[in-house]
Amino acid sequence: MSSQKNDSFKTQLGLILAAAGSAIGLGNLWGFPYKAGENGGSVFIAIYLFFALAVGLPLMISEFIIGKHSSNNSSVRMFYKMPTNDETRPKKFAIIGILGTIASLLIATFYAVIAGWSIDYFLTGITQGYSQFAEGTEMSAAYFNALITDFGRSGIYAVTFILLAIVITFFGINDGIEKASKILMPALFIILIILLINGFMSGGFNETLDFLFTPRLTYLDGTDLNVGKTAIAAMSQAFFSLSLGLSAMITYASYMKKDTKVIGVSFKIVLFDTIVAFLAGFAVFPILFSLGGDPASGPGLVFISLTVSFATIPFGRILGIFTFLLLFIAALTSIVSMIETIVSAIIGGTKLPRKPTVIIVGVVIILGSILNQPALGIAIPFLQGLADNLIDQLDKLTMNFVIPIVTLLIAIFVGFRMKKELVFAEFRSYKVATLFYAYLRYVIPLLVFIVFISGILAL
Ligand code: TRP
Repeated sequence: MSSQKNDSFKTQLGLILAAAGSAIGLGNLWGFPYKAGENGGSVFIAIYLFFALAVGLPLMISEFIIGKHSSNNSSVRMFYKMPTNDETRPKKFAIIGILGTIASLLIATFYAVIAGWSIDYFLTGITQGYSQFAEGTEMSAAYFNALITDFGRSGIYAVTFILLAIVITFFGINDGIEKASKILMPALFIILIILLINGFMSGGFNETLDFLFTPRLTYLDGTDLNVGKTAIAAMSQAFFSLSLGLSAMITYASYMKKDTKVIGVSFKIVLFDTIVAFLAGFAVFPILFSLGGDPASGPGLVFISLTVSFATIPFGRILGIFTFLLLFIAALTSIVSMIETIVSAIIGGTKLPRKPTVIIVGVVIILGSILNQPALGIAIPFLQGLADNLIDQLDKLTMNFVIPIVTLLIAIFVGFRMKKELVFAEFRSYKVATLFYAYLRYVIPLLVFIVFISGILAL
């Protein structure tokens, strides 16, 4: 007997921690600081905040409402039976689940590679410390490049990471994901607080405040800011960080108790995720600024620039170990939700039992992660072009296309097609419900559409 129907989040806290675990990931800790740095700081931050709170929250509520009224845990199948205004079956909207599930698979394959690198840096910290990076970024960049082009080393860490995520998903929602989240998320918060205390005490704190909050329309080097480009980067970063548009929240919501208050839960998740992005900024930038590091140093910010600081600052070794452990935990709870989305979609469509499904999905992600190894292009010259930018291409594809399109469909589905009473039932005040409904129908699609078009124009 598949226990899928009975499996669920047993507590609301478990649901919130698991969903926050999905949202809080490499996007917050690795992506947010380096993108804020590349895009000049404060303007990026302001636009990010607007899109997380004013657009992300209503979309999060919408995903939860969809999941709440699902008859099936598959984000594809559930649309076959969703209650609608005209009582017809909204089968076409299954495209929301199909796109979300495929994109989750693609993201998981490169997410694991990056998370794998954090394992390497964590272990290096434990076995040797970071003093080898004391000479500066060149040394550190050389180490990073050696790691990512070492097929065996980088590959094994990615596979280890995927296997850990598989073990968690293997045991299902309550025994696997809920239990793991209740251990991992508190650990994550504790580590973040330790790093934060260091951030407050280190010399770079005031510079960080200035960088994040002083309005300025220039990049850090003083050249004029391209506001359009910054806006698009900030918007897609906000959606990605909240795990929107990839069926993760829809899937988790389908496992919650049906009397869960959707608005309160969504609000907490958005709040946690946004706070953690900022805390990550306050953990990372002071360390960087205290040694005059460059916040605009791109995707290598955490791996290349920070490690130089860890080589010299007081308690650098332990801070470094904590930082990479933090990245690893955050990434783990995120990839678990991608895997669960895919697994639920398959179980709902085929009635296969959970355990073999988890194993099959795990093997596919492992194979996919191999294609994402930068080393592949060196080992097999024929694949060079592919492997060189696959991570980049997949990142762009999901960020610029899949997420905006799917979130647009979600707003349209909940706003126009889904039974109106189900949306209104979440609100205590009829007035607020009416406002939300109008906002979801007309404002959100417009904003998302603008993101989408500008994203294409910016390519
Ligand atoms: N939110 C995650 C992060 O910030 C990444 C992510 C995007 C994600 N979409 C997802 C995670 C879907 C799980 C499921 O890193």
